[in-house]
Amino acid sequence: MSTAKPALLQLLPLPFSDAHPPLATHFDVIELWKESEPDAVIAARSNDITVLVTNAMTPTRAELIDRLPNLRAICSNGVGYDAIDVKHAQQKGIQVSNTPDVLNDCVADLALGLLLATARRLGQADRYVRANQWGGDAKFPLGVKVSHKKLGIVGLGRIGMAIAQRAAGFNMEIRYHNRRQRSDVDLPYEASLAGLAAWADFLVIATVGGASTHHLVDRQVLQALGPEGILVNISRGSVVDEKALVDALAGGELGGAGLDVYESEPHVPDALKTLDNVVIAPHIASATTETRRAMADLVVDNVEAYMATGKVLTPIPP
Ligand code: DGY
Repeated sequence: MSTAKPALLQLLPLPFSDAHPPLATHFDVIELWKESEPDAVIAARSNDITVLVTNAMTPTRAELIDRLPNLRAICSNGVGYDAIDVKHAQQKGIQVSNTPDVLNDCVADLALGLLLATARRLGQADRYVRANQWGGDAKFPLGVKVSHKKLGIVGLGRIGMAIAQRAAGFNMEIRYHNRRQRSDVDLPYEASLAGLAAWADFLVIATVGGASTHHLVDRQVLQALGPEGILVNISRGSVVDEKALVDALAGGELGGAGLDVYESEPHVPDALKTLDNVVIAPHIASATTETRRAMADLVVDNVEAYMATGKVLTPIPP
């Protein structure tokens, strides 16, 4: 079936659709989540589809890309792109965009929030008051001071830098571990992740997800962080060996963890839910009205830029 406008395959809704120009201005939009037989729709429209809109957590794999011979651009709502076969798309000449920068502040805010909540036992404190334990025999345990402590950042990209800026406000001493040392940043670099963990009081994971960082934070790193140490993860669950994390927390080898991401979302291991030294969030780092709006706008801006110039605005580098 051919249409006057090119077709855009949208895998899931974009929030705040009132805020940006509708994608239907330029495209015949296929809203796949509304289709009862999505496979049949893709098969029927495969030759028409030139743009695909997805998000950071929706698998956009080679099998789907290969079904769309005229696909020219994939525009993702989110900064992480481990769910997209970017290399495969780029090898076929398809541009891939994400939504960098607009979420840096909110993700960094949540990293500090999780660190504070874990160190100062905020989740546990909330449960204690709600259970009417305040004033009873069970005294509330002491927390851990955050200011003036040592913070290790794993992944000093744009979000890692925003975390470092905030941590400086808490007078923390900061070091980082990266794929490579940054020449443009005046912070001490640790080539060994276990070395960084052994030095740090708190370790915040802000690196990319995907195969290159799978289980980067393993049993050895957690043990190096130690029984007083706190791990915060706002990147991807796959970066941390979750089984080793549960064992370390339950066995007292790690002091605590503030987590926004998990290995098989939305599954959170039951063992984590029973531990008082863990603060658990449901992958909400970018989930504020302002940021989700800005992200959705940037997706539409990328689609429009592609239409106007043949190039997306914020391409994922090869
Ligand atoms: C991102 O943008 O990668 C977030 O993790 C998804 O919410």
